[in-house]
Amino acid sequence: MTREWWRDAVVYQIYPRSFQDSNGDGIGDLEGIIRRLDYLNDGTETSLGVDAIWLSPTFPSPMKDFGYDVSDYNGVHPDFGTMETMDRLIAECHARGIKLLLDWVPNHTSDRHPWFIESASSLENPKRDWYFWRSAKPDGGLPNNWRSVFGGPAWTLSEETGQFYLHSFLKEQPDLNWRNPEVERAMHDVLRFWFERGIDGFRIDVMGMILKHPELADNPVNPRWRPGDRERSSQIWLNNRNYPDVFGAVKRIRRVFDEYPEKTAVGEVFGTAEEISAYYGDDREPGLHLAFNFQFIHEIEPWHTPWDAEIMKRIVRDAERAIPAGSQPCFAFGNHDRMRFITRHNEDGRGVERARAAAIVLMGLRNTPFVYYGEEIGMEDVEIPEEQLQDPARLRTFGRDPERTPMQWDATPSRGFSEAEPWLPYGRADRNVDEQFADDGSLLSLYRAAIWLRKRTASLREGAYRELESLDGTWLFERGATGAAAAAYVALNTTGHAVRVAVPSPGTVALATLRSEEGRRVGQHIDLEPLGAAMVIADGERSILGR
Ligand code: NOJ
Repeated sequence: MTREWWRDAVVYQIYPRSFQDSNGDGIGDLEGIIRRLDYLNDGTETSLGVDAIWLSPTFPSPMKDFGYDVSDYNGVHPDFGTMETMDRLIAECHARGIKLLLDWVPNHTSDRHPWFIESASSLENPKRDWYFWRSAKPDGGLPNNWRSVFGGPAWTLSEETGQFYLHSFLKEQPDLNWRNPEVERAMHDVLRFWFERGIDGFRIDVMGMILKHPELADNPVNPRWRPGDRERSSQIWLNNRNYPDVFGAVKRIRRVFDEYPEKTAVGEVFGTAEEISAYYGDDREPGLHLAFNFQFIHEIEPWHTPWDAEIMKRIVRDAERAIPAGSQPCFAFGNHDRMRFITRHNEDGRGVERARAAAIVLMGLRNTPFVYYGEEIGMEDVEIPEEQLQDPARLRTFGRDPERTPMQWDATPSRGFSEAEPWLPYGRADRNVDEQFADDGSLLSLYRAAIWLRKRTASLREGAYRELESLDGTWLFERGATGAAAAAYVALNTTGHAVRVAVPSPGTVALATLRSEEGRRVGQHIDLEPLGAAMVIADGERSILGR
């Protein structure tokens, strides 16, 4: 059996509005992405070397939630280009061996989607049951107690029929009723439409919420909630997230992917390691190829996971324990919904050092790593003046504009992004691709080296994960076939002092945050700088390099 491509891939997430503007409107577009593909992978080690791209939504949309409110699943938003540009993007990616994933939003449409407009028009409309419509309770109360992820009740009254509709996000994002077979069929057809056009797979938005309690029963209150905590945490999302029926729907989605060769599904899911693992399916029936594990970003809302070796070890131990045999985890240190990595880990001004170590850990782990655009050059959250804020979610909960600012290609006032006023302001000029590209000591060069090392090293791509004993505040793990001599070691130091970590077999430092260490022979131990990390390739591995 040939090995599936996603097992060895490094995936790069592009937020299309912010990657590259080609037509001077201040908004990134598909043509811009085409122009920048060689940066991502031109087949040589001077490029970043990513194997796949995931584009946040590119479909026609009123942009209330910047594309996560889709009004036509089978098109391209004019801000981004046309179907012709999309076809060219697919072809240009494939010409470089890059796979292209789009972002499928199955939980909800825009309230401007023709399905919802029809559904809202009358009680008898044939599409009425495509969404959730309920009357007020006899006492005038809302149909149930569910809250919107963005805050406020999950129900809004529609004047047309006097009933409420359910929206787990903005009121402009009504939830689809996946218990209606017509909805399921129509949404499956969206997948087929894009597979026929050559798309290699999808990141699936809000995977865990598409099937809810059949009677939409109230959620229990969260006894641990305290005033000041996020409002949505005031209840336990028992009946509308990871509800058991969702797993059947996931398996049926998988069958659509399997109608075509090599199509890949990556689900946005939240929960414990066990809940995440359930999305991979079981022995009898597969589910998603990959389910995100965001626990390095946050385990318990609203707190960020600290940069702490003991916590990270536990997260990976849990993930490895829970995941079904033959499946592999999928970690990320950032995305378009969360504060940038450096901003998150910069309490002592040493976020950049931690970002260097994170690149080594992410590429060293057994997983399909996802890198959010700009993380490779150390982009930070950008402070945005009130009048320039865009994200409607900020009105009720946290805003996400600071981590969505334009890619910083060079140090010029336009950062190489656009000739026009950009849709969001630019970040600091001194973090840019141009300068880091040429600098061997840069974060970009470290990312690039880590990605290419992973490609060349069988143990890093395919080897099992084993945690080895190490001092508190350090993390040492091995990647390799069980019992075989061939192996790679990854060592991380999350403390502020230098440490010495024992490694079980001799090898060579192949990658280190302190890059002058690379090439050094390692006998029994490796020295790590404060907050440093390194990857050692054991001598035995050399025989299978480039296998
Ligand atoms: C998760 C997406 O990542 C986020 O950006 C969006 O607002 C919600 N889903 C709703 O679609």
